[in-house]
Amino acid sequence: MNLDAYAAQSDVLVTLEDGVLVLRFNRPEKKNALNAAMYTVLADALNASGDDPAVRAVLFLGGEKFFSSGNDVQEFLFNPPRDTSHPVIRFLEALATARKPLVAGVNGFAVGIGTTLLLHCDLVYAAEDARFHLPFVSLGLCPEAGSSLLLPALVGPVRAAEAVLLGKPFDAVAALSWGLVNAVCPAGQAEAAAREAAAALTRQPPAAIRASRALLRGASPEQVVAAIHREAAVFAERLTSPEAAEAFQAFLQHRPPDFSQFT
Ligand code: COA
Repeated sequence: MNLDAYAAQSDVLVTLEDGVLVLRFNRPEKKNALNAAMYTVLADALNASGDDPAVRAVLFLGGEKFFSSGNDVQEFLFNPPRDTSHPVIRFLEALATARKPLVAGVNGFAVGIGTTLLLHCDLVYAAEDARFHLPFVSLGLCPEAGSSLLLPALVGPVRAAEAVLLGKPFDAVAALSWGLVNAVCPAGQAEAAAREAAAALTRQPPAAIRASRALLRGASPEQVVAAIHREAAVFAERLTSPEAAEAFQAFLQHRPPDFSQFT
């Protein structure tokens, strides 16, 4: 793959390091909120990695203090994902159909897609300060990224309901006990653990990795993509709802939302 194609986009740093394609969220001024330009880079890089024998694993990283604050809330207002051609959906499809093993190292908070993308990863290492949060319902929205399928399958329906319907954050210890992460690492060591795991993957036989990933997955890529599209249709409707308008205004005005008038 041609890494030069991604050089201009500094909000996602794309590097190939000893067979590991490293995709690092790098928008610290917005706590690594992901926007359309970033999704485009992520989708293109992931898709290109699928056919490149030089890439044996893909590693998602964020910042030292935060992984990602999720989808850019401003973009929900001004560049919402109305249909499946939107870069966010392209990225989610690329995740669900990724042909190389996916690894993540998580420091600090992982909000929204910062958490749901982990459901697509094969190996996840979290720092002890990692905080996971799915505030979709609190924003008047609904789950995305196939999480309506993958989350209850992984953690069970009642935990999924608490995380999604109540929007209750959970910490790294909970994520470990639920099977969302492989290990809770001391502060500052999650990235090293994730790098080590990715490096170990590069030393494994690639065809056996491909065959085994397909066997290990409960849901097929086609089923996950179908869930992504089902969710996207509801999500697009929710984005135009008065509830979401109130939630986004509240975020921009730094106040709690008030849903008391809605029926
Ligand atoms: N989209 C757009 N901007 C975001 C953002 C997001 N998801 N998350 C943070 N930012 C911006 C803030 O608006 C702020 O910008 P400003 O300096 O221009 O005012 C800046 O990033 C710093 O954020 P701040 O809230 O001051 O940081 P914090 O450390 O106090 O809190 C979070 C961090 C992630 C807990 C908090 O920013 C947050 O809740 N963000 C929204 C998360 C969210 O709802 N994501 C959508 C999921 S579907």
